Parts: sequence; C-alpha cells; structure tokens
Amino acid sequence: MVGPRRRSPRADYPDPVSTTIPALTELHARGAAQQPTYPDAAELARVVSELRQRPPLVFAGEADALKSRIADVAAGRAFMLQAGDCAETFGNVTAVNIRNALRVQLSMAVVLQYAAQVPVVKVGRIAGQYAKPRSSDDETRDGVTLPSYRGDAVNGLDFTPEARAHDPRRLQEVYNSSAATLNLVRAFVNGGFADLRTVHTWNTDFVRNSRVEAKYEALSEEIERAMGFMIACGVPDDAFRTVNYWASHEALLMEYEHALTRIDSRTGLAYGTSGHLLWIGERTRQLDGAHVELLSKLRNPIGIKLGPSVTPDDVRALVEKLDPDLEPGRLTLITRMGAGKVRDALPPIVEAVENTGRKVAWVCDPMHGNTYSTAKGHKTRAFPVIWDEVDGFFDVHAELGTWPGGVHIELTGNDVTECVGGVDELDEDTLFDRYETACDPRLNRNQGIELAFYLAERLREDIRRRGYNPVQDFEPQEM
Ligand code: PEP
Ligand code: CO
Repeated sequence: MVGPRRRSPRADYPDPVSTTIPALTELHARGAAQQPTYPDAAELARVVSELRQRPPLVFAGEADALKSRIADVAAGRAFMLQAGDCAETFGNVTAVNIRNALRVQLSMAVVLQYAAQVPVVKVGRIAGQYAKPRSSDDETRDGVTLPSYRGDAVNGLDFTPEARAHDPRRLQEVYNSSAATLNLVRAFVNGGFADLRTVHTWNTDFVRNSRVEAKYEALSEEIERAMGFMIACGVPDDAFRTVNYWASHEALLMEYEHALTRIDSRTGLAYGTSGHLLWIGERTRQLDGAHVELLSKLRNPIGIKLGPSVTPDDVRALVEKLDPDLEPGRLTLITRMGAGKVRDALPPIVEAVENTGRKVAWVCDPMHGNTYSTAKGHKTRAFPVIWDEVDGFFDVHAELGTWPGGVHIELTGNDVTECVGGVDELDEDTLFDRYETACDPRLNRNQGIELAFYLAERLREDIRRRGYNPVQDFEPQEM
C-alpha cells in the first residue's frame, strides 16, 4: 500500500529568512544599484542556494556585542577605528598580509586609546570587502572597452574579456576567503599575538625612525610608563593579551548578502552573517533603493557613507528608516565630505540627526573625498589633505558639542607607495615603486601609525576641552 503522500518540507517549514526579509526579486525590482550582470541565471541560482546552506561567518550575538560597543561610541565613551583595504583580493589572502593588516591597526589603536582615555573599538574593512561600486560600467584602454573591475567578488582585475566577465562562482570564493581570513584573525586576537606589550614594541620601532618628531617619541615613552604602572597594579594578563576586533564591509551585492542572511535562533530576528558591521555606500544609499531596504530588515549595526551631496532631509529620512526605534549603537554615520568641504557641509548634517533625538556614532572617512590623479596617471591621496579633513571633522564636532566618534581609513600593513606625504615623504614619483592597490590608494604602515600619533594629539586637546576624565568621574568612597 502506498503510504500517505509526504508534503513538501517547504510547505511545512517555510524558509524563515524569506518570510523576514524581502525576496531577491523584490530587491531587484527596486532597481538595485551597482549590481553585476550575470550571463547565466541558472548558475547564479545554484551559487546562491549553495551559499544559503553554509554556516554563518559571524554570529548574531557578536553583532549585538559590537552594537553595544558602538552605542558607547555614540555616547562619547569610546572611539572607533575602522580601517583596511579599499578592495580585498583573493590573491592577497595570505598569513603575512593578514598579520600586517592587524599589526598596523592594533598599533594605531594603542596610541589612540592612550590619548583618548576611552576604549578603541577596532573594526576592520576585512573578511568581506570584495565588491566595489564604480562610477562607470566600462573602462577603455587604447581603444579597447571592457567592463570595469567591480572587485574580486564580481570579476578580475586583469584587462582581458575573460577576467572582466561577471562570474557568480566568485561569490563562493568570497565566502571561502572571508572564512579563511576570519579564522586567522580570531586566532591572532585571542592567541596572545595582539598582546599590548607586543603591539607597543611595534610603535617604538616606528618612533625610532629618524624623521619622526620628538613629541611622538615622548608619547610612546608615556605609553610605556602607563603600561608599567598597569603591570605594577597587577592588572591581569588577560587584559593585555586579548582584544576584540570586528569585521565590516560594504554590503553591496544583493545575492551575496541575501544568501548569508540567517535567523538568530535566540530571537527569531534576521542578521547579515557576512560580517559584524555592514555599511551602505555613498552610491547606494537611495531611500527607496534595494540596499537601504535590505539592511533596514537586518539587526546588525549599520553604517551609512555620506558624501558632500547629501542633504539634511536625506539624512533624516535615512536614519528614520534604518533606525526607527532609536536603538543605541544601530547607526554609524561615516562622513566623507572632502577636506575643502567638511567645515561647511558637515554641521547641517550633524544637526539634522541630532534634532531627531538620536545619538549615532559619527565617524570621519578622510579618504574618499580627497582622491585625485597625478599627471603620470596614479590615483592618489595626500597625507596633509587627509589630515585636514580629520581636523575639520574634529572642529565641527567641537563647535556643535558632539563627540567625534572615530575614523575610517583605507590602509594596508604593507610598505606600499600609494598615498603621497607622511614621514617617509613619498612624492608622486615614488608612487611607481609599490603601487599595489586593486582600487583606491591606501596609507601604508608608517603613514597609518603617523596618522594615529597625529590623532592622538588632537584627541587629547578635545578631551581636555570636554573635561571628560574616566578617573575623576569615578565616585570615591569615604572611609
Ligand atoms: C569605499 O569605502 O571603498 C567606498 C567606495 O566609499 P564611498 O561609498 O564612500 O564612495
Ligand atoms: Co575605497
């Protein structure tokens, strides 16, 4: 006898993700900007369904923990350092590159933490930063026109028709490369590699450079004395040995982000599990667009890039849509106005958000508004101009009484020559030596650490002005 016909499992157990977030077709119907054009829809569907089966790369509870750290940033009790490659590439997923990236970011964080006297929330542009928005769909060289490079998630950098074709199988490689990167990062930050005492020796190496100003050497010595004091007080070893480090990237590709959405078993809520913090780019922040729609449904902390064309009305509508509940730590607003514009363009934006009653993390990206091409054809950025935007950002927040919550920097731990200026006085001709970026020019290791020392001075001034002092804020007990 034939038994009762089994009903399809799909009918019994509707996929919780598809009932919680909009379907991919719905997102594409919004005209999702900056998407690949895949020639083979069946292959794309196969890849997406395969990725839906994979374990999450990060956990919902971790994203929540980062959200509460970002709430501290928004409240002026912490500072954020978000940094890493403009575009990660599959070929650069090596132990040396990952170690160097962590090394420079942790070095910077120590200097900043000492100067700011608040915890530094360390967020990498890492383990997922493989897709790039582009201003033009095509690139022409010597009369040959091919699709633009859109990041290793979409196509290859080589200027050949084969490399530049959009291939959905690359999304699986994004997942695998991100998993391998996170695996090593987790081992490094938990395994004693990131011990404060080790990190400090990297900074002392930097200040030994003869071109570094004496005041930086003095600051490094102060940090050493502070650490000696902590050790003498018996601060437990663990406090030195482990750090929290979070992964972030621009959530650009609908198929990838959708396929990595998971329902948190604790709460039944949807999280993007491709990274802890996901951000919306300057080119994809349309209020009714697919990116804002998708991220409005995910419970991760969310970043929004804001360039000089954003209006107070735009930003008000965006924060209300992405953070309807005024949830602490939900939003990080990453402003990238350009050094020449920040002092005029930023105040109305900050005021518009403050007037909604929200406290958000204000973070300065001094890179993307300050890119130019040299006469010899390199895209570059100048260290003093980068600094000028940071300075303008601090000036504006000092004026408005808001907390300059952090910086967002494109950098690498390697000794590349992509941005001009800094202690090693790189000029436009030296850009030929090691120009290795797949997309935008990055600060190299020394330039990154130098920026941290610069920032340290500025943070100290601001802290003094604000009168925040974590020691004096302690309520002493009478005895
Ligand atoms: C980026 O951060 O690499 C980027 C493309 O930035 P934006 O969206 O601010 O242009
Ligand atoms: Co970039």
